[in-house]
Amino acid sequence: MSLQILSERPVSEEDPLDLMDEIEALKKEKDASILAHFYVDGEIQDIADFTGDSLKLARDATKVTTSTIVFAGVHFMGESAKIMNPEKRVLIPDMLAGCSLADSCPPDQLAAFQEQLRAQGRDFQTVAYINTSAAVKSLVDWIVTSGNAREIIDRVPADKEILFVPDQHLGRYLIEVTGRKMILWPGSCMVHEVFSIQDLIRIKKRTPGCVIMAHPECPQNILELTDVVGGTEKMRQHVMSVEKPTTFLVATEAAMIHPLQKAAPQHTYIPVPGITASTGETCACNRCPHMSRNTLQKVRDCLKNGGPEIEWKDYFQQARAVLDKSLLK
Ligand code: 13P
Repeated sequence: MSLQILSERPVSEEDPLDLMDEIEALKKEKDASILAHFYVDGEIQDIADFTGDSLKLARDATKVTTSTIVFAGVHFMGESAKIMNPEKRVLIPDMLAGCSLADSCPPDQLAAFQEQLRAQGRDFQTVAYINTSAAVKSLVDWIVTSGNAREIIDRVPADKEILFVPDQHLGRYLIEVTGRKMILWPGSCMVHEVFSIQDLIRIKKRTPGCVIMAHPECPQNILELTDVVGGTEKMRQHVMSVEKPTTFLVATEAAMIHPLQKAAPQHTYIPVPGITASTGETCACNRCPHMSRNTLQKVRDCLKNGGPEIEWKDYFQQARAVLDKSLLK
């Protein structure tokens, strides 16, 4: 089955190879390093100094030796890099690259809900997925990524309730694997919500011996069909551990195929489509519209112009303490 990726992005006139050369030269001139999440275009991952999942990149941000970091990802990732490196200049290629999960949990609503729970006498700690704003991070006890969630949940004292924000699907999955009771915030990721269960069943039937891998941000009906549930780095580790050429159906952002192919080229990877129209075209909604705001041109421009830049805010200090104890200790 061919998957048509529809893009609303303007087609660039500029040669990608020239842009890559220009970026390489600007990195040296501006003393900058590029961090790129597995969900940005493969060509940006290829010119990055560090690539990875949210956990690795947050940790890598503390190892950067240059004075400037360009974070090709989404806004909360740039914010986390700044929080962990107050003295560095942190640039992001597009300020509008947000996150539907982060948007689903505004800090004032979270603070009001926490207040309501406290008024009811509930004894709880708040655990936030890293896909949240810094203002939300400053209101919580722990931050998790898909890569360390189980470990962090185990650090929450057993006599406390857990308020998990903002991803209800990841939260439900964590209830299942940790056995802890949680109060779930009703947020979700727009990309992981749209996989079509019918199409997944159809491709599985047509592909004997295939292995389904899905991100824990997917809803329960997708995870029930899944062989390997894991974040992006776990997926990469898994395909590297399988020697025999295998067909993997991958239910996460479609750019993830690039690092999988690089890590284990012996396999075939089929991105699980979103809802398919009667014409056979998919909605291409397995590409995150925010991640795909990152382009080589914008990486070049932000290096050249020294912006857009993530500015330090007072509440970053509190968020820093939570990020430090959750991701670095
Ligand atoms: P991981 O890369 O940590 O699996 O998370 C994916 C994601 O949600 C990025 O926004």
